Amino acid sequence: MSESLALKVRDLDIFYKDFQALWNVSLEVREGKIVSVIGANGSGKSTLLNTISGLLDPTRGTIELFGERIDGLPPHETVPRGVTLVPEGRRIFPRLTVYENLVMGSYTPRRRSKREETISKAYELFPVLNERHDQMADTLSGGEQQMLAIARAMMSEPKLILCDEISLGLAPVIIKDIYKRLGQINQEGITIVLVEQDVKRSLKAASQAYVMLEGKIVLEGQPSSLTEEQVKNAYFGI
Ligand SMILES: Nc1ncnc2c1ncn2[C@@H]1O[C@H](COP(=O)(O)OP(=O)(O)OP(=O)(O)O)[C@@H](O)[C@H]1O
Ligand SMILES: [Mg+2]
Repeated sequence: MSESLALKVRDLDIFYKDFQALWNVSLEVREGKIVSVIGANGSGKSTLLNTISGLLDPTRGTIELFGERIDGLPPHETVPRGVTLVPEGRRIFPRLTVYENLVMGSYTPRRRSKREETISKAYELFPVLNERHDQMADTLSGGEQQMLAIARAMMSEPKLILCDEISLGLAPVIIKDIYKRLGQINQEGITIVLVEQDVKRSLKAASQAYVMLEGKIVLEGQPSSLTEEQVKNAYFGI
C-alpha cells in the first residue's frame, strides 16, 4: 500500500549537461525501514541521493515522499517536508563549533523554537559531541565529524534520512558505533536510506537492497534472499 511508503522514486533520468548519470531509476522505501543502495565508484549513488534531496532536477521521473510529489523542489523545500541528506564528505562547517553546526541544522522557523530541545536529543545520541560542544568542527576526529554530520541532519527532525557513505575512511570500531546509533535513530521510527561501498555492513543493516551499475538499478531484493555471487556480479557488471 502506498500509504506505508516513505519514498517512491519512479523512472528517474538525470543528466549532467549531455552526460546521462541515471537511467530509469526506480526505488521504493517502506516507512520505518533501512534500505541500502550499493554500487561501485561512479555508479550514480550520490546522484540519486542528491536528486531526492532536491540538489538536482530530474529530466524525467517522479519522487514521492509519503505520497507527496517532491521532484523539482529545492532542499529548502524538501527538508521541511521531512527528508534530510547526510552528504558525502560530511560537509560540516569547519570553522564553526559543534554547537554552532547543530544550530545551522535547525534553520526552519518551526524547528528553531525547539532548537535547544533537539540539540539535547542530539547530544544524548552522540555524547561525545556534548563533551566537545565548544570545539571547532575541523579539530574533531573523522569519526566525530561524521557523528556531527548525522546529528546536524537530525536537527531538522527528519522522517527520512539519506546517508551518503558515512563509513568512508573510518576505523571499523568507529563504523560499528555509528551504525549502532543509526539503529537507534531507526528505532525511533525514522526511515533510512544508506548509500555505501562497504557492501557487507550495509546489507547487514538493511531490510531491502538495491545495487547500482553505470546509472542503473541492476539488482534488488531482501539482503537475505540475495546470494553473494548475485551481488558481486551485479556490482561489477559481470
Ligand atoms: N557535477 C557533475 N558533473 C558531471 N558529471 C558528474 C557530476 N557529478 C557526478 N558526475 C558523474 O556522474 C556519474 C555518477 O556519479 P556519482 O557521484 O553519482 O557516483 P557514486 O556512485 O556516488 O560514486 P562514488 O562511490 O565514487 O561516490 C559519474 O560518472 C560521475 O563522473
Ligand atoms: Mg558518491
